Amino acid sequence: MDKPNYINGFSKLTNKEKVDSMAHFLGKSVDDFSILNHFKLPDSNLQARLEEISENVLSSYMLPYSIAPNFLVNGKAYLVPMVIEESSVVAAASAAAKFWFTRGGFTSKVVGTTKVGQVHFKWQGNGAVLNQQFPQIKNVLVSDSEHLLANMKKRNGGITGIELLDFTQQLPNYYQIRVSFETADAMGANIINSVLEEMAQSLKHYSADSFEGAEAECEVVMAILSNHTPESLVECYVECDIEDLAEISGDISPVDYAQKFKTAVDIANIDIYRATTHNKGIYNGIDAVVLATGNDFRAVEACGHSYASRDGQYKSLTTVDIYKGKFRYTLRIPMALGTVGGLTSMHPLAKLSLEILGNPSANELMEITAAAGLANTFSAVRALTTSGIQKGHMRFHLNNILNSLGATEQQKQHTTEFFKNKKVSHKAVQKFLGK
Ligand code: MEV
Repeated sequence: MDKPNYINGFSKLTNKEKVDSMAHFLGKSVDDFSILNHFKLPDSNLQARLEEISENVLSSYMLPYSIAPNFLVNGKAYLVPMVIEESSVVAAASAAAKFWFTRGGFTSKVVGTTKVGQVHFKWQGNGAVLNQQFPQIKNVLVSDSEHLLANMKKRNGGITGIELLDFTQQLPNYYQIRVSFETADAMGANIINSVLEEMAQSLKHYSADSFEGAEAECEVVMAILSNHTPESLVECYVECDIEDLAEISGDISPVDYAQKFKTAVDIANIDIYRATTHNKGIYNGIDAVVLATGNDFRAVEACGHSYASRDGQYKSLTTVDIYKGKFRYTLRIPMALGTVGGLTSMHPLAKLSLEILGNPSANELMEITAAAGLANTFSAVRALTTSGIQKGHMRFHLNNILNSLGATEQQKQHTTEFFKNKKVSHKAVQKFLGK
């Protein structure tokens, strides 16, 4: 086997050198990468800003930026910005928003916003002594890191709790300091990590100064926020009289339809294969808003999935209640979002998204985002329990096929008309176009 080709100092190369190096590595010509230039932002200032956001940036990667209108959340109408590549997601969100607009809209409430950080360390001493000294240690850690939290405190944020956890039974000598934070309108990842690293240093100094021998050696393993944020939670529901489902219940009664919808969601509560797909339908809406507003969709996904497994089995994040003639569909979902700091101010489109939403607080953004997730799962389960998912997808599927075949606008119109009530496939479209 050939020796693997290692590229030295890639990040230090100029943009042009990076493309040269890539072409050389892949045995291609520089011209094979000309598309990278086509996709650079025409405004060089904006492209420069994009290049500052990440490392080794060679171009910009386009995703559709859309608006889902008519979202009524807590009595207020919103236009919801969504960034997503899956063609039917915005249509699904908009359809659900429209349906619920005249049925009271989405009721969304932040239950809590607590975030957590951890200092993981090993200590050879007597746990009882550590426990006894912890009130002093705590004071030192808090006062040493106070200077980092000045801005957050101005916005009513800061440290809300700090505890020592003993895991020595599971892992020899392993302890953890768990710190709770309120981060106000910031997502807070950077500030939390800075505070934790400062605390880790203080902890080392404290044990060096206060203990002797092996006990003076506190080995900090790592200090980092946790993306498990079960206490940064939002609850969102839609509710209507069961009779009000008549518009979508098709050829069964609204009562039977409500029950069928509930069964579909109950299945996601007992079967992980269905639960994962069901929750993916929620994240179609959530991720699209999280991306559009410059928030961290990996963090939001990670905490949602750990929350979905909180009682040992991965389950649906939604539930259906049928009571006193009412149908209620509820989403409970953790998320840590910010409306200040990070990408929210650096990315012009993230900034615009927040403006379109009326510059919401972090809590308001959580409430809107949860509504988008609930809207998407509502439309998905609605489609699955009535016409099936493919019918709605076909319009977009046909469009994608037509684009891939390079159809003209006129051909697109004729083909769309022809396939209105027919099964769409690549082959069938190709045949129709005589290609
Ligand atoms: C597709 O992106 C999402 C769905 O699979 C969600 C679901 O099955 O509930 C339709």
